[in-house]
Amino acid sequence: MAVRMRLLRTEGFIILFILILAQGFHYSRTCDCDQQYFCNCSSNHLQQVPKVPANALGLDLSFNQIESIDMYDLSPYSELKTLNLHKNKLKFIHKEAFKSQHKLEVLDLSLNNLKNLSSSWFHELNSLQHLNLVENPYTTLGPAPIFQSLLNLRTLRFGSPSLREVYKNGLDGLTHLDEMTFVGSNLRSYENGSLKAARPIGLVSLSLQNLFQNNPELVSKVLQDVSHPETLLIIKDVALRTNTSTEPFKAAREGGTKSLSFQKTTTTDEAMTSLLMVMDGSSLSYIGLEDVHLIGQGWWQKASYTHYENLHTAYIRNLDIQGFFGFSSMMQLGFILLHLHKVSVINGTVFVIPQQTTPLLKNLEYLDLSQNLLSDLTIEPTLYTGFGAYQNLNTLNVSQNVLKSLGLMSRLATNLKSLTYLDLSHNSFVSMPENCSWPATLRFLNLSSTKLRKMTPCLPSSLTALDLSENDLMVFHQRFPQLTMLILTGNRFMKLPQGELFPRLQTLLIQRNALRMFNGSDLRRFKTLQYLEASNNNFVCSCEFVSFFRQGVDHFITIRDGRRNYVCDTPFTLRGDAVDSVRLSVFECYMIPAVLVLCSVIIIVLGLIVVTCYKFHIIWYLQMTKAWIQAKRKPAVGRLAEELRYDAFVSYSQHDAEWVEEILVPELESAHPPFALCLHKRDFQPGRWIVDNIIDSIEKSHRTLFVLSEHFVTSEWCRYELDFSHFRIVDEHNDSAVLVLLEPIKKETIPKRFCKLRKIMNSRTYLEWPEDEEKRSEFWSNLRAALQRDE
Ligand SMILES: *[C@@H]1O[C@H](CO)[C@@H](O)[C@H](O)[C@H]1NC(C)=O
Ligand SMILES: *[C@@H]1O[C@H](CO)[C@@H](O)[C@H](O)[C@H]1NC(C)=O
Ligand SMILES: *[C@@H]1O[C@H](CO)[C@@H](O)[C@H](O)[C@H]1NC(C)=O
Ligand SMILES: *[C@@H]1O[C@H](CO)[C@@H](O)[C@H](O)[C@H]1NC(C)=O
Ligand SMILES: *[C@@H]1O[C@H](CO)[C@@H](O)[C@H](O)[C@H]1NC(C)=O
Ligand SMILES: *[C@@H]1O[C@H](CO)[C@@H](O)[C@H](O)[C@H]1NC(C)=O
Ligand SMILES: *[C@@H]1O[C@H](CO)[C@@H](O)[C@H](O)[C@H]1NC(C)=O
Ligand SMILES: *[C@@H]1O[C@H](CO)[C@@H](O)[C@H](O)[C@H]1NC(C)=O
Ligand SMILES: *[C@@H]1O[C@H](CO)[C@@H](O)[C@H](O)[C@H]1NC(C)=O
Repeated sequence: MAVRMRLLRTEGFIILFILILAQGFHYSRTCDCDQQYFCNCSSNHLQQVPKVPANALGLDLSFNQIESIDMYDLSPYSELKTLNLHKNKLKFIHKEAFKSQHKLEVLDLSLNNLKNLSSSWFHELNSLQHLNLVENPYTTLGPAPIFQSLLNLRTLRFGSPSLREVYKNGLDGLTHLDEMTFVGSNLRSYENGSLKAARPIGLVSLSLQNLFQNNPELVSKVLQDVSHPETLLIIKDVALRTNTSTEPFKAAREGGTKSLSFQKTTTTDEAMTSLLMVMDGSSLSYIGLEDVHLIGQGWWQKASYTHYENLHTAYIRNLDIQGFFGFSSMMQLGFILLHLHKVSVINGTVFVIPQQTTPLLKNLEYLDLSQNLLSDLTIEPTLYTGFGAYQNLNTLNVSQNVLKSLGLMSRLATNLKSLTYLDLSHNSFVSMPENCSWPATLRFLNLSSTKLRKMTPCLPSSLTALDLSENDLMVFHQRFPQLTMLILTGNRFMKLPQGELFPRLQTLLIQRNALRMFNGSDLRRFKTLQYLEASNNNFVCSCEFVSFFRQGVDHFITIRDGRRNYVCDTPFTLRGDAVDSVRLSVFECYMIPAVLVLCSVIIIVLGLIVVTCYKFHIIWYLQMTKAWIQAKRKPAVGRLAEELRYDAFVSYSQHDAEWVEEILVPELESAHPPFALCLHKRDFQPGRWIVDNIIDSIEKSHRTLFVLSEHFVTSEWCRYELDFSHFRIVDEHNDSAVLVLLEPIKKETIPKRFCKLRKIMNSRTYLEWPEDEEKRSEFWSNLRAALQRDE
């Protein structure tokens, strides 16, 4: 039993190993699968569907050379939500290829080589929301319904230049479509009602190119089907040159189209005039022109009798006008301009709105002239407010022009009595005047990227939102009692501005500045702040900041730009680390107290050592050891009798000087023969070091006479045990030492460490100075005998 188990386990491992190998081999070569189970196998020269983990949610196979999808190619991937096969060479897809993709939401088959579409592909794709089939060489749509099973489809992109015929039932079943793109530049036949959806589609984009010119009837039929008041109609990639090409828009007018947009379109004055005439009286309220090339000068006055009371919004972007400089007054467009409430002309080389024209804009509420060529010279006529012009203007965007004077802008803006939103970003103001005036209604001001270096009291204190991002500002002084949002991103602030200046501020953005830190007391000064975005600053990761950021900051505000993006700049060792992940040691955090404690500990330990040394005479023992080692090394030197100048060197304590000088010396020096005594007081060479003197004297003396008293033993002996032990005078086997006890000394009183003295006193007899006068002569004769040189 056990053996079989083990076998099974081994087999299991081997299989697992092979599986891992096989999978690793397949996956790693072609696809990157990320943590969200999205596998990107784009641009890998694949010729068939590669193997990826079975739980993949997304699979990008675009830009490969896959020619077919067979029945089982995709069957393992039942979790797939996104499948992208854009730009392959797909010729064949098996009927049941998508059978297990119940969860698929996005399918892109664009730019392939599919000649026939099959409804059976889509049978199981009940969850599909976005389907892209453009640019395949199929030639027909219908007559059999194809998308019937796609009950949840919201976006459909369909068609190609090869499409010739569209039959009525092609779109049957698409009940939830929000957005449709239809490409049919070479359509030959179109059955009425083919693109009519069950309910109006929010956005229909048509790319029919030359059909407007060549087959307006067919285009009419298409427009008839897709036009609806709720549908935004986008006409793409067309050239509208003559009045014929605009005929089909009748159908759009009749369908009640309210929003019409032209993209990537070339047109002429003639076609525009004709379009205006065709759409006369329509309910059009929005007209868009994006990437439009106009051949003409705006001479559309033939259509001036038309009625466009509903046309409120004109959105024009990337307009290229060939006869641009012929637009001298635009008076001729008055019949349209009068009604407009919102006008955007973005990137349209506008350098002026002539002063005569502005009174036509009396209904204007929103004017976006960003990315144009307005300058200080031309902004004045452009914002001319005479004759009631701009009286309702509440939003003005002159971002990305070439304005230089903020003073001028403020003066002109003062006349815009309804202005609440002013975007002046991406101009080159550089400086602010000291004094400005603004309309009292102004609430939002955008001065981003205007190269400002310094704040002055110029800005209006009525603002609720102020964007000063991407400038060179360092300090903030002005008070804004109403401000709720302040953007200072990309400046040079080194600390947060003072919170007291903004009693209502809720959101503060101050990323990419030079902030070094912020703390509770900084944030407390903002009474109402809720959101802070301050990542990418030069944070100094001090203990104070790190601990505040990790624990305290959430009590004050919500960090909205990802805590991970708050990164240390200093100290160098922490540069690039997220503040959140920094761990600082106690020592780093409490440097001064830590150093103090450390020093105190060292001092105490040293003190203890000193006390111990003193108490147990450790130093003394150490010196002793050293001396003893030296003594052992030094060879014994025999002393020659001739070298001995003295009979005895007398060593005594200052205490006993009286006895030595008055009794001992006279007695011995007057003896017959007299003894030559060496006394340090008398015979030492002046100027020499005392120790050298003593050594010298001992060396030149036959004996050394120690006059022992309590005092000598406790205070002087130590020097001998130490310094002179290597002369062996204190050696117990040497008899050159003569001891005289001036007073009885109890052995116990001799400190233990003077072991030599103890030994000498034990091993040798010593002479005691008798109190009794009668015994003194005996003492003297003994002493003389002891000092006597052997002849
Ligand atoms: C897949 O990778 C390509 C580059 O190899 C990239 O261009 C594409 O955006 C990636 N697709 C997705 C969905 O990330
Ligand atoms: C495509 O359809 C046509 C007729 O509709 C048929 O003749 C042809 O064989 C089909 N081709 C493929 C590859 O199914
Ligand atoms: C299709 O519509 C047009 C008008 O838009 C009409 O003249 C034509 O008779 C219709 N054709 C069919 C088959 O209904
Ligand atoms: C279209 O233009 C041509 C010449 O430009 C003109 O003769 C014709 O009357 C115009 N048709 C309409 C309907 O305006
Ligand atoms: C501005 O418009 C021109 C065409 O008039 C276009 O070529 C250019 O790319 C546009 N610039 C931007 C930033 O959109
Ligand atoms: C003003 O124009 C700029 C550039 O086109 C744009 O980014 C900004 O959002 C516009 N401002 C408003 C208020 O629409
Ligand atoms: C500021 O404006 C006031 C009047 O509005 C004027 O008296 C004053 O001289 C101006 N100061 C500066 C420095 O322009
Ligand atoms: C200010 O203008 C800049 C540049 O056009 C834009 O990115 C930013 O979003 C604007 N700020 C606000 C608050 O709209
Ligand atoms: C808080 O930080 C500021 C600088 O941002 C500093 O001036 C202030 O002393 C700090 N306050 C406390 C209590 O640490």
